[in-house]
Amino acid sequence: MQIKKICCIGAGYVGGPTMAVIADKCPSIHVDVVDINKKRIQKWNSPNLEELPVYEPGLKEIIKRCRNKNLKFSTSIKEKISKADMIFISVNTPTKKKGFGAGKASDLKWVEACARQVALYASGHTIVVEKSTLPVRTAGVIKEILNECEVSPRKSHSNKTFDVLSNPEFLAEGSAINDLITPDRVLIGGDTQIAIETLAKIYQNWVPNEKILRTNLWSSELAKLTSNAFLAQRISSINSISAICEQTGADIREVSKAIGSDSRIGSKFLNSGPGFGGSCFKKDILNIVYLSEYFGLPEVASFWESVVQLNNWQQHRISKLIVRKLFGTLSNKKIVILGFAFKANTNDTRESPAINICKDLLEEGASLVIHDPKVCSEQINFDLKFESTNNFEEQQNKTLIEEGNWIKENDLSDSFKDADAAVFLTEWSEYKNINWDDVYEKMRKPSWIFDARSITNPMEVRNAGLNLWRIGDGL
Ligand code: UDX
Ligand code: ADP
Repeated sequence: MQIKKICCIGAGYVGGPTMAVIADKCPSIHVDVVDINKKRIQKWNSPNLEELPVYEPGLKEIIKRCRNKNLKFSTSIKEKISKADMIFISVNTPTKKKGFGAGKASDLKWVEACARQVALYASGHTIVVEKSTLPVRTAGVIKEILNECEVSPRKSHSNKTFDVLSNPEFLAEGSAINDLITPDRVLIGGDTQIAIETLAKIYQNWVPNEKILRTNLWSSELAKLTSNAFLAQRISSINSISAICEQTGADIREVSKAIGSDSRIGSKFLNSGPGFGGSCFKKDILNIVYLSEYFGLPEVASFWESVVQLNNWQQHRISKLIVRKLFGTLSNKKIVILGFAFKANTNDTRESPAINICKDLLEEGASLVIHDPKVCSEQINFDLKFESTNNFEEQQNKTLIEEGNWIKENDLSDSFKDADAAVFLTEWSEYKNINWDDVYEKMRKPSWIFDARSITNPMEVRNAGLNLWRIGDGL
């Protein structure tokens, strides 16, 4: 089967960059990215490439090359579904907030809505690809909805047929384009060989065939959850050791290097920090927890749940020690938050450790000055649950959290003015070359630097006269 038209439902952090790379690498395929969110689509179509809704290094260059050629962004969901040979479902699947499985299971309402739209509007034979991270056996739900439409007696004139594939995305934000262009592997799960090979053929335009793994549907879905769970587990493991380092005089950077030199362990994902954030890790682990409980495996569930618990603990541990070092009170104290995104090179703040840490500090009455090169004030307001009003000025001091207040500062150097402490929470490269003598002059004394990302040079900070706490630094 030759794919000429692809439609991707969902123009988010996964759908947007993934489709941009497919369009770039496959000039003969027309790619339509559709979304119900008009504002998001407008941003994808903005002539000013700085306004794209997703910030990813290398993305705007691809958009410039392909947009309005073989890559189009629109809200014409029905029309684009009806014309597509292959449909990617790339919509959000957050953790359920209420009902059965609340707090653990994924909310599949958006996926189900997509499947129903595909069932209604698709024509001819369509390959439906799940791209969003989903609980194991979601493909079964999609299949059931689509099959209903294939066999419905009232639709006996219907010429619709479907194949369902699982093709989870392993890109990491901030390096999405690179990850898409040179993936470690592409995973395709399905039960129809022809459909699997049709999708594999698209990837073969730039990915060596030996990197394209073919599995059954359920292995593909479970492998995606497990990959994220393993990565997150490494972070919780190293973060647990950071706390021991601080008590014993060991240094977490030296410990990480020493254990990472063992080729069986490997050196990646051993950076201790304020805990993992991002839309996937917590959600995927909780999915495994839910699945384990559902299948009567409480020991497995509690093993994975502890990874999330340790992550929460690490964030509150950092907030607590900031309060302790600042004499037990943050009232009338100005604290600079350096970085609000969950990692560098992205404007995404979902599950960012900065959210919990800032909330803790606000509860203690702190005045926060938040700096982040990519995250906008509206997003911070949303994340910190400041009351929503149309007047942004008013919003600055109205918070659902009783204490504290915050402002956004765009100038890094100005943010230190009269501050009592600065806390590094995202490893933005601009934070690597700070003039500490200058910072010392600007801050109120005694001044504290809390480096949760190992981004500072400790000698330089201390020589400038500042107090320094570094993650996992027992000295
Ligand atoms: C992750 C997976 O890496 C990716 O394969 C999957 O498709 C989606 O989830 P992402 O969440 O975008 O990607 O970023 P990632 O680089 O994995 O970082 C996740 C979190 O872990 C970030 O908060 C990051 O700061 C933190 N992290 C990462 C550490 O604290 N230490 C590390 O050594 C690595
Ligand atoms: P991800 O990180 O998985 O890409 P995002 O939340 O960034 O998740 O993007 C998901 C996108 O899917 C959002 O822009 C949302 O508006 C879109 N979406 C959700 N449901 C539908 C639907 N039924 N039809 C079209 N788009 C949808």
